[in-house]
Amino acid sequence: MKTLAEYQQIVENEITKQFFDKKTEPKELFAPIEYILEEGGKRLRPALCLLACNLFSEQIEQAVKPAVALETFHNFTLLHDDIMDKADMRRGRATVHKKWNENTAILSGDAMVILAYQLLEEIDNKHLSAVLKVFNQTSLDVCIGQQYDMNFEQRPLGNELNAVTEEEYLFMISKKTSVLIAASLQIGAILGGASKQDAENLYAFGENLGIAFQLQDDLLDVFGNEVEFGKRIGGDILANKKTFLLIKAYELLSEKTQLDTLISFSPQNEKEALLKISKVTEIYNLLTIKQITEQKSLQFYNKALQALENVQIVESKKEILKEFAKKLLNRKK
Ligand code: IPE
Ligand code: IPE
Ligand code: MG
Ligand code: MG
Ligand code: MG
Repeated sequence: MKTLAEYQQIVENEITKQFFDKKTEPKELFAPIEYILEEGGKRLRPALCLLACNLFSEQIEQAVKPAVALETFHNFTLLHDDIMDKADMRRGRATVHKKWNENTAILSGDAMVILAYQLLEEIDNKHLSAVLKVFNQTSLDVCIGQQYDMNFEQRPLGNELNAVTEEEYLFMISKKTSVLIAASLQIGAILGGASKQDAENLYAFGENLGIAFQLQDDLLDVFGNEVEFGKRIGGDILANKKTFLLIKAYELLSEKTQLDTLISFSPQNEKEALLKISKVTEIYNLLTIKQITEQKSLQFYNKALQALENVQIVESKKEILKEFAKKLLNRKK
């Protein structure tokens, strides 16, 4: 087994080979792809893919291109997600649709999906169909999750008819975020020759870890440090995202008028935006929403560890995955 940094280095090298060394025309299509794939991302999904493969095999070369395919697909989702979320900043710099324009982010994103599939072309025939099956279902799931995320922006909270529930939120994040993390592990395991059962248990580990991961993301969106996190703090509050934080706060408040007013308030300028963010954050602080969300995230982290128990590998290999998971739970970016 290798260290996390070593897996990440393998990924960086392959990204350089696949994307930076080739100067493909037209640059209007490919420059944004290079830009989003430059250093700055955590390379979580490809590292998990390589790690999962290595749990069962020493031949990890066969998983390198598929790992980069997963990272390419992930970054495609970010290009489109940032348009949908009207987000101006990612990894500390302008998002693609801000640096260029929305059409560019749409088309470069589309091209990235195809490029991701090209990176799967060389998978050995004995694994190709199983990998494609996971990859395709996952891609569709991400779209499903993203649509619910958008639908929820328009839906109410609390006891109202059609209000977004905690259960629905958890389902939505399991689709938009967890499945790709889970699939990265499962695909790595398949390529490494794992049994069907082990590959599925790793998927379950990733699914629960992914929920903990998105809960952390929602937390950092409010309580993170903008320089470290690289995204605008308060972005979810401005988009009226029905995050766990907001759903919980609404549930816990006995007097909901102030929060209702804040949610329906559409800031017309930066000053008003900052005011909305600070007022909602104040409510979160009063209700100790940060601690409540951390507890929830921990619950899913523990569920992930339970799923890991069922994987038939030696304890020392499980430790590497546990370390990885723990690091994610304490992340700042
Ligand atoms: C961002 O994913 C989108 C979410 C699912 C929260 P990451 O936090 O893995 O983003 P990068 O690739 O490391 O920037
Ligand atoms: C990420 O959700 C889900 C996908 C990109 C598919 P977010 O919208 O919370 O991700 P960030 O915070 O913009 O990275
Ligand atoms: Mg989003
Ligand atoms: Mg977003
Ligand atoms: Mg987010």
